[in-house]
Amino acid sequence: MCAIVGYVGHRPARDIVVNALRRMEYRGYDSSGVALLDGHGGLTVRRRAGRLANLEMALDETVGDVLAGSTGLGHTRWASHGRPTDRNAHPHRDASGKFAVVHNGIIENFASLRAQLEVAGVEFASDTDSEVAVHLVAQAYRSGATVGDFEGSVLSVLRRLEGHFTLVFAFADEPGTIVAARRSTPLVVGVGDGEMFIGSDVAAFIEYTREAVELGQDQAVVITADEYRIYDFAGNRADGHARPFYIDWDLSAAEKGGYDYFMLKEIAEQPSAVADTLLGHFDDNRIVLDEQRLSDQELREIDKVFVVACGTAYHSGLLAKYAIEHWTRLPVEVELASEFRYRDPVLDRSTLVIAISQSGETADTLEAVRHAKTQKAKVLAICNTNGSQIPREADAVLYTRAGPEIGVASTKTFLAQITASYLVGLALAQARGTKYPDEVAREYRELEAMPDQIERVLVGVDSVSALAKRFALSSAVLFVGRHVGYPVALEGALKLKELAYMHAEGFAAGELKHGPIALIEGDLPVIIVMPSPKSAVTLHAKLLSNIREIQARGAVTIVIAEEGDDTVAPYADHLIEIPAVSTLFQPLLAVIPMQVFAAGVAQARGYDVDKPRNLAKSVTVE
Ligand code: M6R
Repeated sequence: MCAIVGYVGHRPARDIVVNALRRMEYRGYDSSGVALLDGHGGLTVRRRAGRLANLEMALDETVGDVLAGSTGLGHTRWASHGRPTDRNAHPHRDASGKFAVVHNGIIENFASLRAQLEVAGVEFASDTDSEVAVHLVAQAYRSGATVGDFEGSVLSVLRRLEGHFTLVFAFADEPGTIVAARRSTPLVVGVGDGEMFIGSDVAAFIEYTREAVELGQDQAVVITADEYRIYDFAGNRADGHARPFYIDWDLSAAEKGGYDYFMLKEIAEQPSAVADTLLGHFDDNRIVLDEQRLSDQELREIDKVFVVACGTAYHSGLLAKYAIEHWTRLPVEVELASEFRYRDPVLDRSTLVIAISQSGETADTLEAVRHAKTQKAKVLAICNTNGSQIPREADAVLYTRAGPEIGVASTKTFLAQITASYLVGLALAQARGTKYPDEVAREYRELEAMPDQIERVLVGVDSVSALAKRFALSSAVLFVGRHVGYPVALEGALKLKELAYMHAEGFAAGELKHGPIALIEGDLPVIIVMPSPKSAVTLHAKLLSNIREIQARGAVTIVIAEEGDDTVAPYADHLIEIPAVSTLFQPLLAVIPMQVFAAGVAQARGYDVDKPRNLAKSVTVE
């Protein structure tokens, strides 16, 4: 939800930290702040509510050389405890102003810790849970077993904290050292030459180094310019448990590359997101999921599948259900991860739980995974972020290879998630023998052809941008689909809600007559996903009737239909054509005009497409 960064090295920390915040602002943008150490016992904090630009202005207005050091911390916030104001922005300091902390996550026992500190005379300067951490460290440094020991003080405090957190501490009297720690929220170390970095993700330092180390659960790290040392919270060295890795994408992947918004670039990257996700997964006429770690025997023993996910990832899960049930005849339930563990789902050793998450950090999905594991179910994560918490805790993982997604609205990762879950469906069908090898190969070949089809849709979406301008002032938009078109309608509505702050709803077309049709009135735009006339003729005919009903009530119909589907033209006020593909693959194409429409309406309304209000890219609170 928030982004944290830390730097110790030989360059101006201010530039490094602000650059890192700019690259990670998508993780939270309610406020931002930095703490810079001048190397002579001084620690200067600047923090501002609102976008990073406000902080940059405050830094520019600072006179003198207090911002000139080469050690610093930074933070961008998605507010959880305390309103997004200057005083609640991070970093927080102790009363002496010598210690500073930035925090991502929630300290669940902060209320009792705060009460203890207040009894001891500590005055709080914010409403956040985070501030307790810095006062506790200052207290531990000044008295007791860890007196005068910065690292030891931090470790002793970590042992008292409950919840999930990434914390990064700096101390003005030890300007060449930063101490950081993580529990259930991300933290990576960037290993440079004579400089070390800490970041919520590698975007914090990709400009300077591609060598990184990922910390394990309940680990702390001490960085200086020349080394990093990893500890467990008991203070034992734990370097062997951290995972060094090489970042295999470069700076250009984290930059806009000429597009006005990351989201527009990411929409354009969808062909390669799908192609790269497929890469290496079909060999010798078989689906190969080498990272998956579940044997064919284990796949054969599965008798039920659950998919757990949130938001867009949940919509990809709904599509996975159609494919997996069709190809394997296994029953599949799709559940919002935030609801899953509260209703006592029936799980056992022969249940496969597929957890879909772009970030691999979503707290709701992580808790669903943990619940599934307590019930002995097998958990397979479909994830876009290498080594993040959900794949670490799952029994098996299949990575989507969509590359970094910076726009808060998921686009290319949605297509990559559908692709990956279809691969899982085909692997299950292959292992269980519910499809002949040539049938599996045929489905795979069609999946493999999708990047070219997606490219064709992208070439033709200019007309959608024009429609977006035309309907930008509408008060609402409805999205309607049947069968696999229904999750696409839900996703289209989610995109419009989150980006354009417009009332939008997705409906199963057959449900309209059971209530929602009452919403339809003159000039209301309704976006309809039309199934192929070749795939399910009855479905096609039924949807045509639904469109007539919508049109008869005065709505404006915008129909996404297969090229050459002449039957639909008379009922479409606006027709958006997409290439003809098999039913299960149509969502990979039909959603694209909806993404472009939502981005276009948001732009026409003057909103920030990459950073919609109240949202953040990864949601690490429940
Ligand atoms: O990182 P995750 O895929 O687990 O995130 C889940 C949802 O928060 C996410 O899909 C969200 O709905 C989208 N960013 C919306 O576009």
